[in-house]
Amino acid sequence: MTTPSRQLKLGFIMLGAGGGWGDWRHPDANPRGSTDIDLYKRQAAVAEAGKFDFLFVADSVHINERSSPHYLNRFEPLTILSALGAVTQRIGLVGTLTVSYSEPYTVARQFASLDHLSRGRAGWNVVTSWLSGSAENYGKPEHPPHAVRYGIAAEHLQTVQGLWDSWEDDAFVADRESGRFFDPAKLHTLDHKGEHFSVKGPLNIARSCQGQPVIFQAGASDDGRNFASKHADAIFAGGGTYADARSYYTDVKRRAAGFGRDATKLAVLPGLRVIVGRDAAEVERKYQEALSLVRIEEALPALGRSFNDHDFAQYPLDGPFPDVAALGAESNRSASERIVVLARENNLTLRETALRLLAPRDEFVGTPTQVADAIQRWFENGAADGFILGQVLPSDLQDFVELIVPILQARGIYRRDYEHDTLRGHLGLDVPVNRYAAARAAGLAAASVPAAATVA
Ligand SMILES: Cc1cc2nc3c(=O)[nH]c(=O)nc-3n(C[C@H](O)[C@H](O)[C@H](O)COP(=O)(O)O)c2cc1C
Repeated sequence: MTTPSRQLKLGFIMLGAGGGWGDWRHPDANPRGSTDIDLYKRQAAVAEAGKFDFLFVADSVHINERSSPHYLNRFEPLTILSALGAVTQRIGLVGTLTVSYSEPYTVARQFASLDHLSRGRAGWNVVTSWLSGSAENYGKPEHPPHAVRYGIAAEHLQTVQGLWDSWEDDAFVADRESGRFFDPAKLHTLDHKGEHFSVKGPLNIARSCQGQPVIFQAGASDDGRNFASKHADAIFAGGGTYADARSYYTDVKRRAAGFGRDATKLAVLPGLRVIVGRDAAEVERKYQEALSLVRIEEALPALGRSFNDHDFAQYPLDGPFPDVAALGAESNRSASERIVVLARENNLTLRETALRLLAPRDEFVGTPTQVADAIQRWFENGAADGFILGQVLPSDLQDFVELIVPILQARGIYRRDYEHDTLRGHLGLDVPVNRYAAARAAGLAAASVPAAATVA
C-alpha cells in the first residue's frame, strides 16, 4: 500500500487530574494527577503507542481560587516535558511558555535544551497570557493590553529564533590535534536591540538535529491570527462547530499564503473532546458520566476564565446571559466571543450557557465509527489538518487509541508507525537552514543578516 501524502496529525493535551472543574471527582481519576509523574509517564506511553505526533503541556502564570483544579497544582511544562523526553522515543514534546513574562535568552536556552535532550522533539506554544493577574507575579505595574502583547510576541519570537541560530551546524569542530574547539567564523552574535527586548547573544547551546524547535500558536483574534499564520508551524484552534472550524481554517491558510508561506506546511489543529462508546448504550452512559461531573457552581468560574476570570456568580442563574462582551475582548477574545454568540443566538440563560460550555454533545460523542467519520469529515473538508485531543473521562486517551486509531489507520489517513524521529519530521516540516549559513551560501556576508530575520 502506498502512503497517502496527507496524514492526520494528533496531539494529546496532558491535564493530570482532568481538564474540567469536576473531572477529578470521577472514581477512576487521580485527584493529585497533575503532579504525579507516573500518570504522565503512563499517558505518554499510551499516546506514543497510538503514534501521536506530540504531547502538549499547557500553562499560565496566574491562579486564584476560581482556577480549575488542574491549574491549581501542576508541573511547569519544560520540567515535566524533559522528564517525559527521557522515557519516550519518538513522540513530540510541546510546552507553553508566555512571552509576556519571560526573557528571550532564557526561553531560547530552555527549549534548545529540551530539543537536544529529546533528540529533536521539542515544540514551543507561544502564548501572550490573557490573565491580567499575571503581572503581579512578575513585579509589573500592569498587564500589557491585547495589541501590545502581540507586538511583544513578534519581537520575542524573532529574538529567540535569532538566538537559536547562534551556532552554525558545523561550528563545533572539536579538533584535538589543533586544539581548536569551534570555528569562530560559525559563531554569530545576534545583537538585538528592539522596543521590548535587548539581547546581545550568542546563545550558549547549539542547534539540535531538527534545526530549531517547532513553533505552535493559538491566536484567534485578528492580531492573533496574523501572528500565528505568519510565524507558527502549527496552530491550535479553539472549540466550535464544523462551520466555525472551516472558516477559521480557510482564514489562517489564506493569511499564511498572504505572508508568502506554503500554507500546506502550516498545520491547523482544533481542540477535540471525544466521548466514545462501543455502542449507543455505552455512549449514553459515558455522556451521562461526563455530565454528572459538571456542577453549576464550578461551571461559572470555567465560563469566567475567558473573561479575565470574571465573577459570574453575581448574576441571576436563570436570567439572560449578562452583557460582558467588553471584558472578553481584552482577555481571551475569541473564546469569549464564541460564548457570547452561543448565548445570544440560542437565547440561553446564564445557567444554560455555563453547562453547554462544559458538557457539549456534538459529533465527537458517539461510537468509534461515528467519531472516526467526524474526524475524517473535518480532515478532508478543510476544517482541520489534525487535532489536539483533550480529556473528559480518565479512560479517554486509552479508548481513543484502542477504538478510533485503528479505524483511522485502516482508512489510510493516519500513520501505522512513526516514519521520523523528530517533531518536524512527524509534522512534515523542513529543517530550517541556519540563517548565516544560508547567507554564506547565497554569497552574502554574515553581517548582512538582519538580527531579527524570520526563519524561512
Ligand atoms: C488548544 C489551545 C491551547 C491553548 N493553550 C494555552 C496555554 O497553554 N496558555 C495560554 O495562556 N493560552 C493558551 N491558549 C490561548 C491562546 O494562546 C490565545 O490566547 C487564545 O486562543 C485567544 O486568542 P487571542 O490571543 O488572539 O485573543 C490556548 C488556546 C487553544 C485553542
